[in-house]
Amino acid sequence: MESAAVTFAKTDAVFHNFRVATMAKPGTNLCPLKTNDHDYSFQLPVSGYGAVEKCSLGVKGSTISWIAPTASLPILPSGIEMIDGQGRWLTPGLIDCHTHLVYGGNRAGEWEARLTGVSYEEIARQGGGILSSVRSTRAESTEQLVKSAAKRLNRLMSEGVTTVEIKSGYGLDLESEIKMLEAAKQLGEQHDINVVGTLLAAHAVPPEFKGRPDEYIDHVCDQIIPAAKDLCSAVDVFCESIAFDVAQSKRVFEAAQKHGLGFKVHGEQLTHTGISALAAEMGALSADHLEYLSEQDCEAMAKTNIVATVLPGAFYCLKETQKPPIAALRAAGVPIAVATDCNPGSSPVTSLLLMANMACNLFGLTPEEALIAITRNAAQALGLQDQVGTIEPGKRADFVAWDVDSPAEIVYGVGHNPCIAVCRGGSYVAAI
Ligand code: NIG
Ligand code: FE
Repeated sequence: MESAAVTFAKTDAVFHNFRVATMAKPGTNLCPLKTNDHDYSFQLPVSGYGAVEKCSLGVKGSTISWIAPTASLPILPSGIEMIDGQGRWLTPGLIDCHTHLVYGGNRAGEWEARLTGVSYEEIARQGGGILSSVRSTRAESTEQLVKSAAKRLNRLMSEGVTTVEIKSGYGLDLESEIKMLEAAKQLGEQHDINVVGTLLAAHAVPPEFKGRPDEYIDHVCDQIIPAAKDLCSAVDVFCESIAFDVAQSKRVFEAAQKHGLGFKVHGEQLTHTGISALAAEMGALSADHLEYLSEQDCEAMAKTNIVATVLPGAFYCLKETQKPPIAALRAAGVPIAVATDCNPGSSPVTSLLLMANMACNLFGLTPEEALIAITRNAAQALGLQDQVGTIEPGKRADFVAWDVDSPAEIVYGVGHNPCIAVCRGGSYVAAI
């Protein structure tokens, strides 16, 4: 993070007359701005949402260079582009920190079967579920995968998502896992969005290794991780009775560490395994799902920087009744993120705003916690907390202007999108 004083001369554009929900932690020094005759440094008022009313931001290139109360600014030099917010609320760009956006086909037929009472686990055990998406994904080219995922990506972007994590995990062989990560990379190149790739080769045991999960984990650790390491920043594993056990998941974490990659886990989704506490102890970025997380797990997680990512879409679509222990996570001080988990089976969801709303109405987050969960904490879940997630000098100029009267209203509407404009890396455009 840049902390040295900067000057107005280093400004390309000024966003003025906004109300800014910086989402920064209370006490953050937001304004390392000094001119010859004035030091504009001010402490963030300890109000909710890190809000600063009547605020101006300076942007240089793709970076936020300063923030200051509009009233304290001198007359600015000419040549600076001025963007008038007309009193609109501005937040950091939204971050969807857990998606399976790239996949072939869809599983609407399975959903119909689940509605008649067949369970998600039963479908998985019969070779459907994740393995059905594996068959469709293996059959598609990179180009086809990019094309179908682009439609989902556009829906996320229309709500102000500026960073998205995309997992592999429907290839389950070296070539197809690389193909999925390559598709994710191309999506980032073709769209104005920051894509973070995650290798989820340990999502299910592929047909070629049926009954031999340990041998498949050897293959993931010895072959797939080294081959995919330049296309991803982290490795994920599905630790569950229908996927991999704690010992196998631990081996995946160790392989990720060996190759300098971050790691995370789909954990405690259908049963309690204890993987989240182990993941925390080993230095994981996040543990995700967490319906069956215990209070002791929350305490173990609070000792590290791990983020608890909750996924209301999968909870809702699987008609789960056990809720993640939000009160215990909050009491322990574990940062909570919320994501779409966009995938063809348990969460065919392309609205991060709806997930934030559901995190409030179903799980009991406050609207402020929900907004932190899709900005600052989502950035931490991706290890990007120094780059994105809050409106602070030195961070990427990713932000969203909203047609709302208060920040809570951003997550209050159901199926409503109040995003009116998005600034991605310094370029400001009206929403699609
Ligand atoms: O996050 N839990 C495991 N993986 C995905 C589901 C994948 C699928 O059903 O295709 C999830 O919910
Ligand atoms: Fe997932």
